[in-house]
Amino acid sequence: MCGITGYIGENKTTDILIDGLRRLEYRGYDSCGIAAVGPKSSLYLKRVTGRVDALDKLVAEEPLKGAGAGIGHTRWATHGAPSEDNAHPHTDCSGRLVVVHNGIIENYLELKEKLPGHKFKSETDTEVIAHLLEQHLKGLHVQEKAVRSDMLEPVFFEAFRRTLAELKGSFAISAVWANCPGMLLAARMHSPLVVGLGRNENFIASDVSAFLKYTKKVVFLNDGEMAAVRKDGVDYYNFHGRKTAKDPVTIQWDSTMAEKGGYRHFMLKEIHEQAEAVENTLRGRLLPLGGDILKAEMGLSAEAIKGFTGLQFIACGTAFHACLVGRGLFENFGVPAYADVASEFADRAKLMPKGTLVVAISQSGETADTLFAMREAKTAGAKVLCITNTVGSTLTRESDYVLYTHCGPEIGVASTKAFLGQLAAIYLLAGHFAAARGRLGTADARRYAEDLLRVPRLIEETLAKEKEIARVAESFAASEHFLFISRHLNYPIALEGALKIKEISYVHAEGYAAGEMKHGPIAIIYKGMPLLAVATSGRTLELMAGNVEEAKARGADVVAIVDAESRKTVKASRYITLPSAPELFTPMLTVLPLQLFAYYVALAKKCDIDKPRNLAKSVTVR
Ligand code: M6R
Repeated sequence: MCGITGYIGENKTTDILIDGLRRLEYRGYDSCGIAAVGPKSSLYLKRVTGRVDALDKLVAEEPLKGAGAGIGHTRWATHGAPSEDNAHPHTDCSGRLVVVHNGIIENYLELKEKLPGHKFKSETDTEVIAHLLEQHLKGLHVQEKAVRSDMLEPVFFEAFRRTLAELKGSFAISAVWANCPGMLLAARMHSPLVVGLGRNENFIASDVSAFLKYTKKVVFLNDGEMAAVRKDGVDYYNFHGRKTAKDPVTIQWDSTMAEKGGYRHFMLKEIHEQAEAVENTLRGRLLPLGGDILKAEMGLSAEAIKGFTGLQFIACGTAFHACLVGRGLFENFGVPAYADVASEFADRAKLMPKGTLVVAISQSGETADTLFAMREAKTAGAKVLCITNTVGSTLTRESDYVLYTHCGPEIGVASTKAFLGQLAAIYLLAGHFAAARGRLGTADARRYAEDLLRVPRLIEETLAKEKEIARVAESFAASEHFLFISRHLNYPIALEGALKIKEISYVHAEGYAAGEMKHGPIAIIYKGMPLLAVATSGRTLELMAGNVEEAKARGADVVAIVDAESRKTVKASRYITLPSAPELFTPMLTVLPLQLFAYYVALAKKCDIDKPRNLAKSVTVR
């Protein structure tokens, strides 16, 4: 996830672009940059590693004189480390054509091969767009001898359109050409892009927060649409170059609301981004299971996968709960797997069986305990694979293999979408392991992949229950103690449910393996104590139904997280009914009502949800 912005008009272009980038920083802040057409059709380009403040300083030292067409970008790295070379805007060989991009160009390596003689300066997938555009511009100039200035805009437009036709993946793109100062171009496919309409000035951006200060009149582009933006008007087209009519709408949000996409908190926004997070993490990596997809990306071949004797997961907090799901999943496929919190791993490191693959999971890739444990594992001679959301983080630099989650930046301190991304990566890895080791035959592997690809839709269906979940949560707003129970693959989800509510509501909560309740914890149940039981269909359902009875008999007010089938077996006071899913995949759904439950309890308690007391997003001390 990155943020892009664009401006064309008579006001100070660089100020407007920088102001827009500041408001889009929540989408990523690894590096940023702007480019604009300067006096006498020169190209002004400034890029920095890090935040918009640094860019602002640089621009103030060497300001652009005048106003023109300009584009800006704040980056959340996916392809290539956070560095100035990898910062957008990217240029073609001439340095006169600039492009910003949010998304992933899946076929960039293939396209690069078709561009011999072009000089690439970055490791990004985006740069290929600038060179492809340059190539098409050259072709059109030669074919049509279109060097007359009045032909430059149509030629630029057509070259851009032809470029789009060759791209696979997700993108919101904007491009400016120094030879064509009166027009900027923009297009959208699976990444957000919106046009802002002003008086004698127009804007584009990843979301309206970037320009809401200047105009509230906006046009949302759909997938497969492009816009030719001039200061006195905007024309819209489909990717075939046919004009389309678009109606502007007036936005009522203020700019803070807009950064959060209209949600009250980043946590809630991120909860709602989970289908997309899973989809982005799985995209292009699933089929064929057991094949060389992971080899191409991480250098982990099917042969290497067969050689590992087992897995050892390490992580902290929510990421550790992902590890526990991973342990159960790999065990399900007959692969010995262990999971430890990173801060308690030191002695285990030396005792790991030879041939163990250590899987370190961390959203930030900077958690001190996880880094320390990873180093202990390496010292003990193990290979380390990391699952992380952060390109270029310390964990990625020190691991042997890296599997990225593609969730976009997570701003809320309470982790939600990063957890779903971690689960998606674990399911991906488990599927490849199982297929490579012969635990999933061809037909089963296909079914597993299909089931996994259906998860984003099921996530959306589950999140549609938000209002119902909010009502249940609000009824417990005064409670100070909560219990969460489940079994097997959903036991870690009970732990995660308890962690979420502790973090943002400051109440006492415990997550238990349901079978453990009778060995002690059942003693704490009092009349009316809220107990959330995850009891979806599957092999532990009967036992779960029994555990719910035991808790009810001691006075617990039980909310059962069920599906239509299991609801018939579990006798609770209240239910949250999820769409049916294959048992193996339920953790990716059952956690969602618990996240929403925690959110709405915290909201009712008027807690600072995105910045809970005593906590930091990334814990870089041991
Ligand atoms: O960046 P990491 O995934 O390594 O962070 C690990 C934990 O600190 C983190 O998951 C923490 O528990 C969250 N606040 C949970 O919501």
